Amino acid sequence: MINNNILLQLTKEHQTPFYIYNGNEIEKQYFKLKKAFSKCSNFQINYAMKALNTIGVLQFIQKLGASVDTVSLNEVKIALLAGFKPHQIGFTPNGTPFNEIIEAAELGVHVTLDNSIQLKKYAALQNNIPIGIRINPVIIAGGNDKIIVAHKASKFGLALNKINDINYLIEHHNLKIDGFHIHLGSDVLNLDAFKKSADVLFSVAKNFKNLKYINFGGGFKVKYKDDDTFLDIDSVGNHLTDVFNTFQKDYTNDLKLIIEPGKFLVSNAGVFISEITTIKDGIVFVNSGFNHFGRPMYYNAFHQIRNISNTEKSLQTYAIVGNICEQDTFGKHRDLGKPKVGDIICMENAGAYSFSMASNYNSRLKPMELFYYNSKTSVIRKKENFDDLLRNQIY
Ligand code: LLP
Repeated sequence: MINNNILLQLTKEHQTPFYIYNGNEIEKQYFKLKKAFSKCSNFQINYAMKALNTIGVLQFIQKLGASVDTVSLNEVKIALLAGFKPHQIGFTPNGTPFNEIIEAAELGVHVTLDNSIQLKKYAALQNNIPIGIRINPVIIAGGNDKIIVAHKASKFGLALNKINDINYLIEHHNLKIDGFHIHLGSDVLNLDAFKKSADVLFSVAKNFKNLKYINFGGGFKVKYKDDDTFLDIDSVGNHLTDVFNTFQKDYTNDLKLIIEPGKFLVSNAGVFISEITTIKDGIVFVNSGFNHFGRPMYYNAFHQIRNISNTEKSLQTYAIVGNICEQDTFGKHRDLGKPKVGDIICMENAGAYSFSMASNYNSRLKPMELFYYNSKTSVIRKKENFDDLLRNQIY
């Protein structure tokens, strides 16, 4: 966590609101993952860039040694700009237009598909480029309904009873499959879900030859407050590595174990800084809204909120809201050091799915992004300006 004095100093140099990401924290999380999977000799981290796709952050994560997971052709192109080589990019689309799939494969990016129609179309291309298959394991895991994505009725993943269709495409259309993938959901808290996921993956994989990898997806839950529950990543790493190593012993090819963390790498690294504009009847307003920091509104997510201008021990209870014309609530019944207009409010866990989900709702501008590493701060994205709102409008 970047200390309050540094954050307060930065508010004197840069206009609020802004996001700031701590590279030292990202690095720490990256090495935690490496350690958790250290018994695996062929291990790869594909950072799920949808969590935070700003190029300055991607360059940092690429230098750490990670590969990247993308979900749109534009993400692929941004990853290439950030310095990832095509072979370091995985593309895991879900129902995207087929031209994106063709283009990504032609760029040399690894594609994973999860439905029969696109698999058949892909096989018909006869391009000889191997692809992966995302499976629906029918496992319920994740923080809330919107981010639980591996249940029976999910739009993600090929149903297990469709797996046999792949054999037909392999035999008659020369389709080449090089790996299997499951992503359970986000904020997954228990090891058991990953155990079940591994059981499904290996029971499918054992029937296929020439595989190159097994991908367990992301979703590792981090802490959102001091006493919060979180996933024990060492247990997950140990278990997945053990079952992977056992499977590898009897398997013909050398396999790679891949994971796709988003939140685990960047959630805790980011904070969102705003300023109190007004206070009335126990409600504190800041110069931002859910257009900038949407998780509380979208998912009812709890994010720690602190008044870093007043860190005195005696706290008072407030609701903290934004200026968007809806019930724009960041937190209810929150204890803050007695607030006054102009105080600086810090919202935590703003690294993942904050800027990347920000919008221009209410014609508000997207804030700037700062990156902090080894006590140095740099701007990695400028604040938008009014012209950005008008660009592409015809009038
Ligand atoms: N791999 C795939 C295929 C994914 O779809 C995702 C996230 C990840 C990996 C990374 O999941 P993570 O490690 O970040 O949990 N906006 C929501 C989260 C959506 C996650 C979408 N997929 C939120 O803020 O909670």
